[in-house]
Amino acid sequence: MHIPDEEQWRAEGLPLTTPSDEACKMFDATVTQLKKACRVWERILIDHPHDILALRFAYMGYFASGESAQIRDTVCRVLPQWDIKHPLYGYLLGLYSFGLEETNLFDQAEKTAKQALELNRQDSWATHSISHVMEMMGRTREGDTFLSATESDWAPLSHITYHIYWHWALYHIEEGNFESALSMFDSKIAPHFKNCGTWFSMTDATSLLYRLEFEGFNIGDRWNTIYDFCVNRPWEHTWAFEDAHLLMGCSRGKDQEKSKEVLKSLKDFAEHGQGDMKRITSVSVPLLEAIQCYEVEDYAGTINILLPLRYDITQIGGSHAQRDIFNLLLLHAAIRSKDPVHHKIARSLLVERRQLKERSPMVDRLLEKVQAAISAEL
Ligand SMILES: [Fe+2]
Repeated sequence: MHIPDEEQWRAEGLPLTTPSDEACKMFDATVTQLKKACRVWERILIDHPHDILALRFAYMGYFASGESAQIRDTVCRVLPQWDIKHPLYGYLLGLYSFGLEETNLFDQAEKTAKQALELNRQDSWATHSISHVMEMMGRTREGDTFLSATESDWAPLSHITYHIYWHWALYHIEEGNFESALSMFDSKIAPHFKNCGTWFSMTDATSLLYRLEFEGFNIGDRWNTIYDFCVNRPWEHTWAFEDAHLLMGCSRGKDQEKSKEVLKSLKDFAEHGQGDMKRITSVSVPLLEAIQCYEVEDYAGTINILLPLRYDITQIGGSHAQRDIFNLLLLHAAIRSKDPVHHKIARSLLVERRQLKERSPMVDRLLEKVQAAISAEL
């Protein structure tokens, strides 16, 4: 396993703030060689199952790589060796719950998250896991009630607070309450994004506005701030999930030239870059091309790329709920296309979606629209 030290990073032209070889190696492992780094952290956990830092790094490495089963199992493997009286035991349950949710074990995920919350009602990661369960099962009214009732527990002092607000806003979109979703964007998500300016906050903000526009809802000039962020940050291609949102932000800022530059930059990285994200360019490059097609109303182009690619998109990382933006991209391309065959594809995608959720007002309203188009084409 080759890990560049300080001298090699300086030779690459990277400005460094540390003279430490170890820090430089850790930087490289974390940013470009996640899979190998995860193997090292797993090796540490075999001898030291209580090493919470190794566990957390491995966990987030799997999250960034979209390895759902590993998100679950890395916690599962060490959990029996932890005492319930350990102060972090509940935190571990919260981590485990999200892994269960990402592998569609919803009942077990909910039960585990509730156990975590019994130990610590302010465990926001466990709350976040329940938010996912509600989203994936179509229990959005229940999710709305749950987040409302527990807001004073999870909202203060948590790294995940504003992402939970994002989940809450998704419930509003599902229910067709677009004004409520926009209000949550204005009062919570946008101020947080403007304050902290992280990639993670950018993906939440972008995804929410994009979903509102899928529904034909007017969001005014709210793309401006996101556009400024997207064009002014270096395009490092350290997370493919973010690259896709970067392109969306540039496109919705009405700058198709900048959007083309993002794609070109990613293609250059596919040719000359290194590390895990280079391997994933076999998925991320066509995904960004599909988004670009949608942005210029080449809906057939989006469909032709995404239909065969959609089951591979997990590799770009993030959660099922976050990647659902790409399911919706395919669906709305099929709805907006003028080709009658694409309307039948849209109907089949909606049928799939309905099977996965107990209840979905979004599917109901889109299916009605698609069915009307198909009937008119007979
Ligand atoms: Fe989430």
